[in-house]
Amino acid sequence: MDGLSAWASEISAHAAEVDLLAMSFFLLVLSLSAPVFILMAVFAVRYRRGKPADRVHPIDRNVWLEVSWAIIPFALAIAFYIWATRLYANLYELPADALEIGVVAKQWMWKFQHPGGQREIDELHVPAGQPVVLTMASQDVIHSLYIPGLRLKRDVVPGRYTRMWFTADKPGVYRLTCAEFCGADHSMMGGRFVVMQQADYALWLEQTEVDASLAVQGAVLFRTYGCSGCHSPGATVHAPSLDGLYGRPVPIEGGQIVTADEQYIRDSILLPRQHIAAGYPRIMPTFANVLGEEEVLKLVAYIKSLRAAPWKDRQ
Ligand code: CUA
Repeated sequence: MDGLSAWASEISAHAAEVDLLAMSFFLLVLSLSAPVFILMAVFAVRYRRGKPADRVHPIDRNVWLEVSWAIIPFALAIAFYIWATRLYANLYELPADALEIGVVAKQWMWKFQHPGGQREIDELHVPAGQPVVLTMASQDVIHSLYIPGLRLKRDVVPGRYTRMWFTADKPGVYRLTCAEFCGADHSMMGGRFVVMQQADYALWLEQTEVDASLAVQGAVLFRTYGCSGCHSPGATVHAPSLDGLYGRPVPIEGGQIVTADEQYIRDSILLPRQHIAAGYPRIMPTFANVLGEEEVLKLVAYIKSLRAAPWKDRQ
């Protein structure tokens, strides 16, 4: 556990690059500001009161020197801007083949749901060398998942999904914590981030008790809460079919077109009046006070799983 060291170990390529960026920027700032302070000290001594120094100031200009000390730092600062922006933008390019793990934050714990249905609290096990995408929701207030070893932190905000991805390379046990003040026990809201070799992770998945995969648990909820009554192919009510919905552009009332991503599916369940699929009546009831974020994540997993169905192209 690296919890107490000032410099948490780097467990991903991203972390190493963030450190390189931060260190280089520190050196840049140092190299730009050190001459100023050193010269201040030198001049303060050389030209102090009573010192018989030469105080004649002949006009002696060197335009190129003057221009260079404006241009060079400017160019360096822009180079850092581009470097940092690329690194940051990369965080928003989610890899397609990633392992998707659901995260629900609530006062004061972290709940994780693996696609196979394995659940854990305040501990997150991930395989080394594989991209992992976290889809994060909050059950109450704003939290922020911070994994120092990955140099990653992202807010978890009620009412929307935020996502974070990483590829951890170094197996080991690290720290995860909440980095947004979220109430009395905020400082206690944390736990362990465990990076395992692929084989160990597979074994861990096997040994962790599961009821069923997330999508299968979602399918059960889908029936329990009566969604299937309207959304199944044989239903008498005119509701949009959900087969192959995920990732597809959906025309909605008013002429807009939105992509059916996780956020769209979540909102359609909890805030159904927000986007009405074009050509369908406004009859979907809200499940905002019925379902918790964990259940919604399961339903989303189920609806996403429908994309692979062989009858996908039927409509
Ligand atoms: Cu959750 Cu601080």
